Amino acid sequence: MKHLLSAADLSRDEAEQILATAAQMHDVQRREVKKLPVLRGRTVVNLFFEDSTRTRSSFEIAGKWLSADVINVSAKGSSVSKGESLRDTVMTVAAMGVDALVIRHHASGAPSQVTQWVDAAVVNAGDGTHEHPTQALLDAYTMRSKLGDLAGRRVGIIGDLTHSRVVRSNLILLRTLGAEVTLVAPPTLMPSGIADWAGAAGFSYSYDFDEVLPELDAAMMLRVQKERMTGGFFPTPREYTVGYGLTRERLRALPEHAVICHPGPMNRGLEITADAADEARSLILDQVSAGVAVRMSVLYHLLGGAEQA
Ligand code: CP
Repeated sequence: MKHLLSAADLSRDEAEQILATAAQMHDVQRREVKKLPVLRGRTVVNLFFEDSTRTRSSFEIAGKWLSADVINVSAKGSSVSKGESLRDTVMTVAAMGVDALVIRHHASGAPSQVTQWVDAAVVNAGDGTHEHPTQALLDAYTMRSKLGDLAGRRVGIIGDLTHSRVVRSNLILLRTLGAEVTLVAPPTLMPSGIADWAGAAGFSYSYDFDEVLPELDAAMMLRVQKERMTGGFFPTPREYTVGYGLTRERLRALPEHAVICHPGPMNRGLEITADAADEARSLILDQVSAGVAVRMSVLYHLLGGAEQA
C-alpha cells in the first residue's frame, strides 16, 4: 500500500493488519516512554487546508512517537493565503525531501490528485464530503475494543449524512469488517440517491431514529455541519434534536451493552446531549486516544517501518 486515500483501498486483511498494529501501538502509547525508533530519518508533513484539532495533532504525535520528523503546514500562515495553488504548494513541500504528506482539503478528491504530482506517500486526512479513512479505522478500533468482532454487529450512523466524509469511510470499512450498517437522517440531510446506494453497498437506511435505536450495538452520532449549509439549516435545531438527537430519553431506549461514538467536534445540545456524550457507554475520548495509535499504525505501514523493524 503506497497511499491511504479511501477506506476502499483496504482489503479485509489489510484493515485487520492496520488494526492489529494499532493495538501494539496502543500498548506503546500507554508506556511512560513512548518513542519507537522505526521511522527515524523519515519526514512527515501535515498539510491542512481546513481546520482540525484531533486529526492534525494526533498525526503529529503519531509521527513523533515513531521518531519521524514532523512538520505542520496550514493554509493560514502559509503562502496558500497569498494565492499559491495546491499543486505549487505540494510540489514545493515535496521538493524539500518529504516521505509522507498527510492532507486535509476542502475539495473532495484533492489527496488523490496530489498523488499525481509527488512521489511521497499521501494520506487522506479528510477531503471535502468524500472520505476520512483514518477516522473510520479509529472508529472501528474503538468499537471493537468494547464489542469485539464487528461481524454481524449493527452500527447506526445518525446525523448530517449529506455533508459527512466520516459516514462514507465508515460505511466502506464497517461493511469490509462484516458489520450491519443503518444510516439515519432527516430527509433534508439524507444523501440523494440513497436507495440505489444502499442497494449497491448493502446497508439499510431510515428516517426514524426511534425505530432503529433499540436494535443498535453502536450509535455513531455525526456533527451537524452548519458551516457547509450555505442555504440555512432545515429542520430547525430544535426540531433536529427532537427527531434525531441522542437525548436523555433516547439513552433509555438504547440497549445496555450498546456504545456511543462521535468523531468530534460535537455540537453539544444539538446532535448529542451532555448526558449522552459523558455517560459510561460513550467512547468519544477512547476514539481520540485510538486516533494516535491508528495513525501510528498507518504511518508505520505506509513508510515501510514494518520492513525495517
Ligand atoms: N474527527 C475529526 O476529523 O476531527 P478534527 O476536525 O478535529 O480533526
